[in-house]
Amino acid sequence: MFNSKIAGMGYYVPERVVTNNDLCEYMETSDEWIQERTGIKERRYAKKHEETTTTMGAIAAKRACENAGIAVEDIDFIIFATLSPDYYFPGCGVLVQRELGIPGVGALDIRNQCSGFIYGLSIADQFVKSGMYKNVLLVGSEFHSSGLDYSTRGRNVTVIFGDGAGAAIIQPTKEEGKGILTTHLHADGTYAEQLAYINPGCHGGKFLGKKGFGYPDEDKFGGMFLTEHMVENGLTYPNMNGPAVFKFAVTKFPEVIKEALEATGHTTEDIDMLVPHQANLRISQFVQKKLRLPDEKVHNNIQKYGNTTAASIPIALCEAIEEGKVKEGDLVCLAAFGSGFTWGSALIRW
Ligand code: UT7
Repeated sequence: MFNSKIAGMGYYVPERVVTNNDLCEYMETSDEWIQERTGIKERRYAKKHEETTTTMGAIAAKRACENAGIAVEDIDFIIFATLSPDYYFPGCGVLVQRELGIPGVGALDIRNQCSGFIYGLSIADQFVKSGMYKNVLLVGSEFHSSGLDYSTRGRNVTVIFGDGAGAAIIQPTKEEGKGILTTHLHADGTYAEQLAYINPGCHGGKFLGKKGFGYPDEDKFGGMFLTEHMVENGLTYPNMNGPAVFKFAVTKFPEVIKEALEATGHTTEDIDMLVPHQANLRISQFVQKKLRLPDEKVHNNIQKYGNTTAASIPIALCEAIEEGKVKEGDLVCLAAFGSGFTWGSALIRW
């Protein structure tokens, strides 16, 4: 058995900066409200018709390969995490494979939203440890701006999210005690609808109560996934019970971090750098306080990029490395919580 390590990382954020004041032109909100409740000052939006979740992921992937000192052709498996794919199907895994020009390489899509990168890292870790693959490409990429409600109705969700991509190359390492030490994955589908993009889908209103959810009552073939009612009533956008998500997040983040520390015989004092999923600055600050970590041991960048879901951890981790905040031998902790609900953590000896 090998250990696995992150051998290289890369990220890409679109050029277009969208400030809080820019959003005020479309909905009733304010720079003050957004900053106070979320910490976000601005986010990036991808160029429609030019960029996609896949193309952003491909740029991050190429940068990660370069950083790891491998050729794109050396990639022997792809894992792609996103909740905003180019197509309903096939997934972005095969699309990024085509974009990178490496036909034949296996491509797995995972749908674990904000926890997508940690779920993907855990899968990559198992494949590499078992000796099955030597260069796993893990991508997290999101094009949120194409699917948000820009009216006041959608403001609690829309102001939070931004676009971007991050990628990592996971390789085996023979260095004792180095690399990915442990990963912990959790989910509780009881809360699936608390943060969800429900339509179009084949649920037929089953879990929601048909009334008001846009499904026609007639039991006939076809035309069920998307109805005029859904479009007219804004039921084709993500919806979120923000306070419920917040409440769970501040409990589950510390819990799953402690689980990883305990599994490896560490304590919170041993953490050199915590990179939490960038959901809300207030959530990160709450977690930091609960774990009694000083500012220099937590990396946040939600102020610049908003919440980029599956891309948020790889973008933040890559940025922290580039800023010299992660050094060889450091104990790095990654943690996420989000839609599903899903949550997870990883501990890495850098
Ligand atoms: O990626 C992981 C998943 N997501 C999260 O982790 C998000 C977790 N939740 C949150 O970050 C917060 O719940 C939000 C930032 C989404 C909302 O903040 P909040 O402090 O929980 O606000 P709220 O939902 O309780 O709403 C308070 C008020 C409401 O007005 P009333 O009913 O008190 O009059 C909302 O309509 O704030 C209003 N509001 C807004 N006002 C201005 C909601 N969104 C906005 C907005 N601008 N963008």
